[in-house]
Amino acid sequence: MIKVEKMKIIQQTEIAENIFKISLKGSLVNEISMPGQFVHIKVNTANDPLLRRPISISSYDKKNQIMTLIYRASGLGTRELANQSEEIDVMGPLGSGFPIEQAEGQTAILIGGGIGVPPLYECSKQLKNKGFNVIHVLGFETKDTVFYESAFKELGPVYITTADGSYGTKGFVTDAITEFDLKADVFFACGPVPMLGAVEKQLNHIPGYISMEQRMGCGIGACLACVCTVNGPELYKKVCTDGPVFRKGELVY
Ligand code: FES
Repeated sequence: MIKVEKMKIIQQTEIAENIFKISLKGSLVNEISMPGQFVHIKVNTANDPLLRRPISISSYDKKNQIMTLIYRASGLGTRELANQSEEIDVMGPLGSGFPIEQAEGQTAILIGGGIGVPPLYECSKQLKNKGFNVIHVLGFETKDTVFYESAFKELGPVYITTADGSYGTKGFVTDAITEFDLKADVFFACGPVPMLGAVEKQLNHIPGYISMEQRMGCGIGACLACVCTVNGPELYKKVCTDGPVFRKGELVY
């Protein structure tokens, strides 16, 4: 069920350059059903008091009703969010996430770019619990924007790339997959659209799931601000309700 709740801010810290981690407590957490879902956050600013920002859920703990989000403070709303310390208006959980199936001994490769990395953390934890070996390839712009390397390392091997070569492999996530000859049975990817297209092409031989980054309006399927082009008879799908996670081959880049 989708809820709208004033959630209590438990903690908020800057974990890399302009990248913030916020932990929120409330009963909305009970409604989360799969990793990769997102919430829509309202931040009151003078210029757009009504607009919400979609932010993916990075991890959640139902027992304590706490979820953690990681976001980049790059625009008016998210910079304002970074200043909050008491409570915040949250709508969610929204969208359909990554399906997690039992698969003893299979290998999953999780591939994230920038602010597409966070939802892969809960996904990786749940895959590992289901018996998968997990490998992570995480791409960032520069060393200063790298985050969660050690958290992912606790789950499985991590390969970092930076576009400027200041840390890890120089280049993109696809370069690291080639350089280290990484093999897997299934992939899970989240990041900028060009990265998703490149990953899908490179890993065309295995099944996979893609979480689409898209601008959003309502977040609940009513405004059509988030439509993307898909293969098949429907031609278009809504990222907010049909996604954000799609099967490999569904999206047209
Ligand atoms: Fe309004 Fe998807 S954001 S329909």
